[in-house]
Formats: sequence, C-alpha cells, structure tokens
Amino acid sequence: MKIRLLTLASPLVAIALATAAPTKVVTYALPDDVEDFTLPPGEGADLAAGNCAGCHSLDYIRTQPRGKGAQFWKDEVHKMVAVYGAPIEPVDAEMIAKYLAESYGHPVP
Ligand code: HEC
Repeated sequence: MKIRLLTLASPLVAIALATAAPTKVVTYALPDDVEDFTLPPGEGADLAAGNCAGCHSLDYIRTQPRGKGAQFWKDEVHKMVAVYGAPIEPVDAEMIAKYLAESYGHPVP
C-alpha cells in the first residue's frame, strides 16, 4: 500500500516542481576591485610589498584592526615566517614589522 501511494505521489511532485514560480533574476553590484591597492609610502613599504604579497593579497594587512601596536605587527610578521614559512631574512622582517607598526599600529585618528 505504501509503495503504491508513493508511485501515485511522485508524478504530482514533478508537476508541482514544474509549475513553480519562474526563477526571478536578481541583479547586484559587486564590491569594488581592490587589486591595485598599494601600501602607504614609508621606509620599509617596498620590502613589505615585496615580501608580504606572495601568498595572499596586501589586503590582509589593511584589513587588520588598527591600534594594535608594534608588538602585534612584530608577532604577525614572525608568524608568517615561523608558522607559514615566509622566506624573509630576519633583518628584513624587522624592518617590515617596524614599517607596519608605524603605518597600521596606531589607532585611526
Ligand atoms: C609563505 C606564505 C605567506 C607569506 C609570504 C606571508 N603570509 Fe601572511 N598569511 C599566510 C597564511 C597561510 C595566513 C593565514 C591563512 C589565511 O587566513 O589565509 C596568513 C595570514 C595573514 C594575516 C591575517 C591575520 C592572521 O594572522 O592570520 C596577516 C595580517 C598577514 N598574513 C600578514 C602578512 C605580512 C605582513 C606578511 C609579510 C611580512 C605576510 N603575511 C607574508 C601566509 C603568508
């Protein structure tokens, strides 16, 4: 009996699906392309741009919360090297961390 009911019901389901409301076309705007983002000028900007965009975009830097101070950026650069294997010389890493602290470590005025 159960099987018979299912056999009867399935064409009804097919008809219901086929007569469902037509698909509505939705339009939306994509966010602006930020690929041309460049780091703000400063001593170490070139080093950061050259060493920090190999695995992800520089947006990773820009989108971090501001005002976290110098230690945060020192730790961040250290993590990229020690945990993720970024091939950055210690002297360059230090310069990059200093630059990032100056450019992004302070709270937004
Ligand atoms: C060897 C690859 C690699 C390089 C080079 C690299 N990163 Fe990363 N970075 C990662 C990975 C992996 C993540 C975490 C995964 C993710 O979120 O996509 C990450 C995440 C981040 C984040 C997000 C916050 C976090 O800690 O997860 C920031 C900020 C960041 N990187 C900054 C930097 C800076 C600054 C440099 C240059 C000194 C750099 N990255 C270079 C691999 C790299």
